[in-house]
Amino acid sequence: MENTKVIKVGLLGLGTVGSGVYKLIERQKEEMCQKTGADIKIEKILVHNIDKKRDHVPLELLTDRWEDIIENPGIQIVIEVMGGIEPARTMILQALNSGKHVVTANKDLIAEYGKELLDAAENNGTDLLFEAAVAGGIPIIRPLKQCLAANEIDEVVGIVNGTTNYILTKMFEEGMEFQEALEKATELGYAEADPTADIEGLDAGRKVAIMASIAFHSRVVFSDVHTEGITKITARDILYAKEFGSVIKLVGVAHNTVDGIEVAVHPMMLSQEHPLASVRDAFNAVFVHGDAVDDVMFYGRGAGELPTASAIMGDVIDVMRDIQYHCTGRISCTCYRSTPVKPFREVRNKFFLRMQVENKPGVLAAIASVFGVHKVSISKVIQKVITDGAAELVIVTEAVKEYHFMDALEHLRDMETTREISSVIREY
Ligand code: NAP
Ligand code: HSE
Repeated sequence: MENTKVIKVGLLGLGTVGSGVYKLIERQKEEMCQKTGADIKIEKILVHNIDKKRDHVPLELLTDRWEDIIENPGIQIVIEVMGGIEPARTMILQALNSGKHVVTANKDLIAEYGKELLDAAENNGTDLLFEAAVAGGIPIIRPLKQCLAANEIDEVVGIVNGTTNYILTKMFEEGMEFQEALEKATELGYAEADPTADIEGLDAGRKVAIMASIAFHSRVVFSDVHTEGITKITARDILYAKEFGSVIKLVGVAHNTVDGIEVAVHPMMLSQEHPLASVRDAFNAVFVHGDAVDDVMFYGRGAGELPTASAIMGDVIDVMRDIQYHCTGRISCTCYRSTPVKPFREVRNKFFLRMQVENKPGVLAAIASVFGVHKVSISKVIQKVITDGAAELVIVTEAVKEYHFMDALEHLRDMETTREISSVIREY
């Protein structure tokens, strides 16, 4: 359209997500004016290695000089899809302080420096949006900040890491052990060359910190989140889960309770009837409970080129509309409370404990007594004899404080009749 306003964008990063953003802008650009009242143009793309072969974008768009973006007054929106803390943090701050709006997918940064960045956006009247930072293509930040804003939210529970959900699905459905399932996830490109952040629950921990901050209106940072990964889950644990009518999932759990926010990521046994139990493969889902809306669940692809670009471009379109209607900086930090985060040791959970013990009289009674001393109430006991002289005991507890259970566990570990503590998994 002639005389249509053009909003110029600087793209930081042209990897998986950056390439998706480039493709989606190309695919959408004819209709951008109808959607926002302005056309969109990528002015420059910042990359690390300018010599890398890239056939999918015009070479004149590429730069390895940040100055080409920050010093270009025509660029109104910066899309940050480089990842990592630095230089992304400094670049985003500089962009906001120069009056540029920022859209980012960077969960590491938002989970740690969200307040600093949102304060900078507020001080400059600029937009800082980050829908893609949690659960990729699934809308969850905007629903929490806007659609559900009239609710008192007390629970956010999510499967927010696709790699681990894929691994656990393979273990559950095909009987694979962890290592074999991880190799398959790597082969398919779900797991990265270094899968630590996924399999140890760190990636999910960052996403849960961001969701809890927004849902409960109080800042939760990554270091507040207790994280445990899935590396110790075995095919045998999965067999028991099946026997109990449950599945094992890596779950991010956040509760807003009267005595503080509880926030953690760990594997959990979930009843097969829970809506999250049917989330298979690399899919993600987030389950939210609000006092007015009741239960809501969001489901979809939590990663990948186009799903993630979809979330980013939703944010970019919002910024373009805000620019057109002169209302940028409308929704900034929503953490107006200061609710303490409860120490994890005080959180109550139900536990599944699998252990190998000497198979002789009095052992079970002694174990039950240890639990009694540590105020742990037992709800279920299963005993299977594995070899001559050894029995596998599975004990499921009622909801008890973490430290009561962990103290009992230490006591059990030290008993002469205990051959091995094989696994400890929480139950939802
Ligand atoms: P990626 O494939 O590794 O791409 C990173 C891009 O950033 C590359 O183009 C790289 O340049 C560029 N870059 C890195 N450091 C740079 C620096 N110092 N200066 C200039 N350019 C730099 O990463 P990605 O998977 O697209 O992820 C990007 C972000 O999106 C991360 O924050 C990630 O957590 C988030 N995210 C990713 C997904 C997903 O599915 N991948 C989903 C949700 C959120 P070169 O090309 O020259 O190396
Ligand atoms: N590595 C993440 C996952 C995707 O497996 O879900 C990026 O957040």
